[in-house]
Amino acid sequence: MPDALDRLPAAERDWLAAIALVEDKPRVPAGADLLHTLADLGVPHVDLDRLLRLRPALDDHDQVRELVDRLLSALLAGLGSRSRLGREPDLGDPGDELLAYWPVYAFAAMAAETRRWHAGRGIDEATTRHTLADLGRQLTHHRRRLGRGGLTDNLGWLADHFQGRLYQLGRLQFELAPLGRTTSAEIRSAGVAAEPGEPVIAVHLPDYCGPIDEPACTESFRAALDFFPRHFPDHPARFFTCHSWLLDPRFAELLPDSNIAAFQRRFTITQRRNRQDDEGPFLFVFGTRDVAGRATLPRHSSLQRAVIDHIDGGGHWYLGAGWRPFAPDA
Ligand SMILES: CC(C)(COP(=O)(O)OP(=O)(O)OC[C@H]1O[C@@H](n2cnc3c(N)ncnc32)[C@H](O)[C@@H]1OP(=O)(O)O)[C@@H](O)C(=O)NCCC(=O)NCCS
Repeated sequence: MPDALDRLPAAERDWLAAIALVEDKPRVPAGADLLHTLADLGVPHVDLDRLLRLRPALDDHDQVRELVDRLLSALLAGLGSRSRLGREPDLGDPGDELLAYWPVYAFAAMAAETRRWHAGRGIDEATTRHTLADLGRQLTHHRRRLGRGGLTDNLGWLADHFQGRLYQLGRLQFELAPLGRTTSAEIRSAGVAAEPGEPVIAVHLPDYCGPIDEPACTESFRAALDFFPRHFPDHPARFFTCHSWLLDPRFAELLPDSNIAAFQRRFTITQRRNRQDDEGPFLFVFGTRDVAGRATLPRHSSLQRAVIDHIDGGGHWYLGAGWRPFAPDA
């Protein structure tokens, strides 16, 4: 395994080393095939160019090649599984461009397998394309947050897409998930029967997709109510759930007329007072976890001002959790 892996925690290193290599793996595309595969996956052109130029080095670099084979094997072995990858082998800044981009080659090789699996579930080609294009969004995130190209984090998140657990339906993303213990207790405390582990649909809000205006969200929820029973009758969800910095109820107080406040009203919100998360809003609004450096951050929008001023006033942000029935609005 590459020396750069020494920077990983032992548990992540051991996990990668223990992945059983699948014999009959799809090949990593090359040349024009790679160009079109990456373009279809929404990869920004600036990254696409680097990935194409680095591709020959992958064949010459046995250790990185082995990493790609291992991630690809893990993705193949879990295709269709409801269990998350559960691992984030984050290399930080590996100081080597090929090692910064290596997971992209595994996802590029996996894409055709995922497409086939989606088709087997009757999922239309457009939904597959919209869903897998999150790969490009994660490369954009990476560049914005870290100031360099690559995909050294968020592998576990992308495995959800490439292993068939997560779908983009219009403005929002929806994930096949089990109900957590805490959320199930919160639902029960509202007088509604709910069991930990029962199937739910978790809602996610991808960024770089414009505002979450109400009609777009209504249409996404409507699409999800149609999509999951149709394609996943083996996952009979009774609830939508959402866990996000966007569900801290303080946002609805500070920005009552905002889309964020309207989105919150779709859910019964159970704020996690024990889950202080000052960094969450800073990461998604400003692309930085540096809460202490907030004096230098832009204050153009009401959200930017609210995120900063609330901390300046001695407050904190908390992860919010919410649930609503998997049913049309009453
Ligand atoms: C969620 C999101 C789409 C909401 O955008 P929106 O629909 O414009 O939200 P609102 O209408 O409630 O925004 C209120 C104000 O904040 C601004 N705003 C919203 N998101 C912003 C962001 N990420 N950065 C800066 N300003 C933002 C809006 O432009 C608006 O400004 P104004 O009142 O000065 O005109 C947006 O914040 C976003 O893309 N976030 C990143 C994705 C994310 O965090 N996902 C959840 C991960 S857990």
